[in-house]
Amino acid sequence: MRTVNVPLGNRSYDIKISPGLLGKLGAECARLKLGNRCAIITDTNVGREYAKPACNSLLRAGFEPSLVIVPAGETAKSLKSVQSCYDRLASHRLERKSFIVALGGGVVGDLAGFVAASYLRGIPFVQVPTTLLAHVDSSVGGKVGVNLKAGKNLVGAFYQPKLVLCDLDALATLPTREYRAGLAEVIKYGIIYDAALFARLERDMPKLLHRETKTLGEIIARCCEIKAEVVGQDETESGLRAILNFGHTIGHGLEAISSYGKYLHGEAISIGQIAAAKLSAELTGLPEKDVTRINNLFKCAGLPTTVTLNSAQRTKLFAAMKLDKKVSAGEVKFVLAAGIGKVVWGQNVPESLIHATIN
Ligand code: NAD
Ligand code: GLY
Repeated sequence: MRTVNVPLGNRSYDIKISPGLLGKLGAECARLKLGNRCAIITDTNVGREYAKPACNSLLRAGFEPSLVIVPAGETAKSLKSVQSCYDRLASHRLERKSFIVALGGGVVGDLAGFVAASYLRGIPFVQVPTTLLAHVDSSVGGKVGVNLKAGKNLVGAFYQPKLVLCDLDALATLPTREYRAGLAEVIKYGIIYDAALFARLERDMPKLLHRETKTLGEIIARCCEIKAEVVGQDETESGLRAILNFGHTIGHGLEAISSYGKYLHGEAISIGQIAAAKLSAELTGLPEKDVTRINNLFKCAGLPTTVTLNSAQRTKLFAAMKLDKKVSAGEVKFVLAAGIGKVVWGQNVPESLIHATIN
């Protein structure tokens, strides 16, 4: 088992990465000295596969779990779901020391984390991520929240879990498209922070695509280490944490103009990272050969690298980018690369250059 610590003073916690962790959920929660009553929040797909082993593990350790199942998909990240989770927690009489287990991908993690942050003004929660994206990104760092009609993640909090358990076995049932989407976040860590990781991904992408447990464990642990280092220095995104948004400005825009239907998040940020790499070649000196390496690696992972937009769609994309949370005083700020493994944040990019890149 690999363990990565997220260093946040008295809110520090471990991320454990190994096959077989779901069966140890109860024993791991027992070490945290929490109350007896708990609720597992999961979605219909994940619940079908993993709710029973999760419940049984908690029961074996003496806990009293109740199961809350939300519909699978982004629509579950809503205030309506939050309300229905509160009602279930109240009817199971969860108390201040009771806890929540978020069993699922980023949707469940963000929703359950927000419920934990706000129910009884905050009760503990444990993340048990089941998608690759959630293993390397959404379960770590404490961003929790839900969407509004006006936009994604507009209601939320910074609220850290007590523990993250990444069970590598859970990735076996993840549909291929979802798995590849998670690889977009994995590649992101190489570009923003670690040239050696990027080079390893170039070598080991075939092993990763075969979901080889040893390679996966090592790569997931490295991504979590990077996220832990960044969050440890800038929990609430006053500076450095912005680097985690590389490729997200255009990516979020693409998700928004396709009403969160056409692209998975990982697919949209794959295109967004290629666009950011091209802008970086113009503005921050990213060598052309590195733009090519970045492009090739996303292609090798089976991710989309281009998008065709007509002029009406381009106008909508710009409007969507301006609504993003990363906008400051009306200006869209970009994270750009100076080399593979080295990025700068808060960069202004002329609109004409964005237009030319998207063209
Ligand atoms: P998701 O949670 O919707 O899961 C993707 C699909 O896979 C769902 O249909 C789900 O039911 C299914 N699934 C999950 N695990 C499975 C498994 N092991 N086997 C079979 N099916 C499984 O999507 P996601 O990509 O994990 O997360 C996307 C969400 O994460 C977005 O809402 C995004 O905003 C959020 N996010 C949050 C952060 C953060 O820091 N909090 C970071 C990145 C993304
Ligand atoms: N996924 C971006 C962040 O956690 O900051």
